[in-house]
Amino acid sequence: MIGRWISWLTIGLSVGLILLTSAWLFAERCWAQWTPLSPEDAFIHGTIGLETFPLKYAAVMQDLSHESFFAEGADGSVWADYGFLLPDDIPAKTCTSNVADWAPVGIGVSSFVQAKAFQTSTKFAGLTCAACHSARLRLPNGSQTPVIHGMGNQELDVIAWSDGVKNAMLDPGLTTDAILSAYDAQCAEFDEANGQGGGVIQSLIDRIIISAWLGGIKSVIAGDLSRYDLPFDNAELRDEIAIPAGPGRTRPFRSTVRVSLNLPGADNFVLSKIPVVWEQREDLRPASQYDGSIRTPVTRSLIAA
Ligand code: HEC
Repeated sequence: MIGRWISWLTIGLSVGLILLTSAWLFAERCWAQWTPLSPEDAFIHGTIGLETFPLKYAAVMQDLSHESFFAEGADGSVWADYGFLLPDDIPAKTCTSNVADWAPVGIGVSSFVQAKAFQTSTKFAGLTCAACHSARLRLPNGSQTPVIHGMGNQELDVIAWSDGVKNAMLDPGLTTDAILSAYDAQCAEFDEANGQGGGVIQSLIDRIIISAWLGGIKSVIAGDLSRYDLPFDNAELRDEIAIPAGPGRTRPFRSTVRVSLNLPGADNFVLSKIPVVWEQREDLRPASQYDGSIRTPVTRSLIAA
């Protein structure tokens, strides 16, 4: 008797799992729909695998986490003050339904979950090529040109910003509830009015995915602390002794030491300037990269990318 029950239970469970998997695969076909981007759009809008955080968090990051980016009492924009280029007129509400109106240049939207190869219907914000390789020129009269894609962003303080993001992630007050309550208070009605309210099921999916993402990223960063130490804190992010890269430069070889050799890399001070990328003529720039060591544009572009 018990044996029969167990067989039925196993069959039931298997059928349930098959149905669930089929439903997932079917739904994935909808939210993973993909139209190839033109090279220019891919450069500006296509995320490059650095899916940074859920779009809903990006929308409320300024309110929820700005203390992780600035010294106590200081105020500023978690984007513009770190050199990201913002649109001229930021709307009063920054939500997922009007992301094109407020997202900084080089922040693209994708359905990929950070560091995973699968997509869901929860939107993530990620860096695109244009985050680093786009800029405005400041003219002598104080005005600025429109964004020039392909130019190096000499104001982007990406290393300090990344430490700010790590501080924010390690903040015990940053919970799925905190993110979603702040988001709903700011955007639920607005998204609804724009016809992109999402509904109960989407809210549930967002909650599950955001909670999985947050748990994952908190544990990855916490796990790395024994190797890399704590990120610099809010007061030290703009201190050139603490973070010598400063705006316009990155520390790619520290990453190489960390990723390939599994060492802290803290004493690797090889800095790399964010270059213009439209000019690859070998007679004008016979060698490039941080030390001028690589002469073929294809090889240096491959390594850079
Ligand atoms: C986080 C900032 C950042 C992002 C995002 C980024 N780059 Fe770069 N890129 C750099 C830096 C810094 C260098 C210089 C690397 C060096 O000197 O080793 C560079 C170098 C390059 C070069 C070589 C230029 C030359 O002439 O030496 C090319 C080409 C390039 N990037 C293209 C891209 C493309 C295409 C993307 C998107 C897929 C991209 N980059 C995303 C920072 C970035």
